[in-house]
Amino acid sequence: MKIKIELTQNKKEKPATSALGFGKFFTDHMFILDYTEGKGWHDPRIVPYQPITLDPSSKVFHYGQTVFEGLKAYVTETNDVLLFRPQNNFKRLNLSSARLCIPPVDEELALEALKQLLTIEREWIPNAPGTSLYIRPFVIATDSYLSVAPSQTYQFMIILSPVGSYYANGINPVKILVEQQYVRAVAGGTGEAKTGGNYASSLKGQELANEDGYDQTLWLDGKEHRFVEEVGSMNIFFKINGTVITPALNGSILAGITRDSIINILNYKQIPVEERQISIDEIIEAHKNGQLEEAFGTGTAAVISPIGELKYLDEKFVLNNGEIGQLSQLLYDTLTGIQTGKLEDPFGWIVKL
Ligand code: COI
Repeated sequence: MKIKIELTQNKKEKPATSALGFGKFFTDHMFILDYTEGKGWHDPRIVPYQPITLDPSSKVFHYGQTVFEGLKAYVTETNDVLLFRPQNNFKRLNLSSARLCIPPVDEELALEALKQLLTIEREWIPNAPGTSLYIRPFVIATDSYLSVAPSQTYQFMIILSPVGSYYANGINPVKILVEQQYVRAVAGGTGEAKTGGNYASSLKGQELANEDGYDQTLWLDGKEHRFVEEVGSMNIFFKINGTVITPALNGSILAGITRDSIINILNYKQIPVEERQISIDEIIEAHKNGQLEEAFGTGTAAVISPIGELKYLDEKFVLNNGEIGQLSQLLYDTLTGIQTGKLEDPFGWIVKL
């Protein structure tokens, strides 16, 4: 399928690095692909970044039939543009879509569209340390029809946003409140899919955490409220007595691409790592015994986010003196080093534009 290109006549001014934050600015162009039942995906096009017009009855507004992805592009010191494991994102997009009864996109076409869009928007990729171009592919259900049934029309879009740190305080440790009342997902639900509803339902926990002076929520399992699942918009890792532990994927946890990359890096560096069920009691016990050495979250947006404090059942547990742990720093440096081309990529993860 040939991608039609319409370039803008009104280029925007690029934001200063200091103003970037996360997801506040968008580039000059976007990619759109339509789906119509019986016809399939059609009309791939790159157009000037613009609002989209939808009927107020569009299914996405009422029943949340939508999925999204998040990945980043980086520019190297020698001016190459690098993508990190983009095939994995389009594969996961289709897995999320399958759960939401959305037809899959052609992963090769999606990657080709992204490459063409990035070629046009190359100047938008910031190059200061800690910055990148965040890529947000997403699909929405566009049928204007209120019956609860899969839409017969969709739009797949890719928008781009130059970003700095996800958290205002960068890689500095975050404070986490263990949520006891609400849950994010249950096995069999949509926790594994990257769909808007999971994030909407996490807002209440986030609000409660913020009101208590915490940055993020740590979600426990939906059934017993005992086992650790995810933190905020990230997967979570604990270093206990020399071994790194992350909750095993169980159907309600997002299969993070950064999570998988960190497991691979740990294996490569011969640092013991386990994917298994881990209860909050085990973590608290390890803290009390002085064995909880570090904890950190992982995600595309946040990269590596060290955890400086946990609050559980009104008790506060400070980790690693509230400072960035050695392992968190090592993993941050290794991962961002590979992503920005400063370090060799022994895993074959980097796709050059
Ligand atoms: C990402 O890390 O890309 C995410 O999807 C998190 C996002 C909800 C900010």
